[in-house]
Amino acid sequence: MSGCGAFLHDDIDPFLALATGEGWISGRWEFEFLLGTFPQGCLVWREAGETVGYLTSVKYGKSGWIGNLLVQPQARRHGIGRALMERAVAVLLKNGVETIWLTASEEGAGIYCRLGFAPIDHIYRWTGQGAPQPGDRSEPVDLEHLRAVDRVGWGDRRETLLQLTCCRGRLHASSGGFICCQDWGDALQVGPWNCVIASQALQLWDRMLVPGDRKIFLDVPAGNFAAREILSSRGFSVKGSAQLMYLGHHPLYQPGNIFALASMGSMG
Ligand SMILES: CC(C)(COP(=O)(O)OP(=O)(O)OC[C@H]1O[C@@H](n2cnc3c(N)ncnc32)[C@H](O)[C@@H]1OP(=O)(O)O)[C@@H](O)C(=O)NCCC(=O)NCCS
Repeated sequence: MSGCGAFLHDDIDPFLALATGEGWISGRWEFEFLLGTFPQGCLVWREAGETVGYLTSVKYGKSGWIGNLLVQPQARRHGIGRALMERAVAVLLKNGVETIWLTASEEGAGIYCRLGFAPIDHIYRWTGQGAPQPGDRSEPVDLEHLRAVDRVGWGDRRETLLQLTCCRGRLHASSGGFICCQDWGDALQVGPWNCVIASQALQLWDRMLVPGDRKIFLDVPAGNFAAREILSSRGFSVKGSAQLMYLGHHPLYQPGNIFALASMGSMG
């Protein structure tokens, strides 16, 4: 028996093992969130009882985000990636989604183009070094403010994602923006980091981080030139890139307000 099925909790560990082999940054907590929030959009492909392909999706208002498309190396080029994508797109559309987002690796881009996804920007993976401000404590999460600022960049209500990531990390907010820093073992991820008043972005960065020797990474829209200036001035450099693509309604996307994604590509 082979075919598409539900992504179960038992699939998380095998997925994480495969993802680590690909050099992906992903954690169990993301899957607990995805399976708890939008289980109908989290899919696997099974062949003779073995799971050979994975994909997750999640819905924020009228937009959806597809991530974690991964097929076992020996099962590639047999149409499994495309079949998982077709099913995920159908599930999201059935659930009222009008715009579907994803970040595309070179290997995935062919499938996405053939399904009608269009490029809208690039996402750069920036890395560098730093440390949290000594004695830094997270500020209380004002979800209404975060949602309003985030919405200017992404055009939709993403409070579930913001609550998850900002409660998990340390948060600093200002009148026109916010920055969050999440622990990933010894390393730190900056994001979500959004500003409607771009001049506050650097102040937020400096409130959050000081020079140090912890590895820091963040995913940043290429269309945000202010972010590029800040990160270059702090000694960060670009270590990789992916295409940001969408399907469906043209989104109200404002990359100048998005300084870093909330996730490392998997959830937006
Ligand atoms: C990207 C990935 C998920 C694709 O999975 P897959 O199951 O190989 O996907 P498909 O088989 O549907 O399509 C892949 C290619 O095989 C081709 N193909 C499909 N069936 C085929 C067949 N029977 N014979 C020959 N080629 C075939 C497709 O046309 C496609 O060609 P393209 O690469 O030129 O676009 C897989 O390569 C992978 O896991 N890569 C590493 C992780 C990754 O990059 N994920 C995407 C993140 S954005």
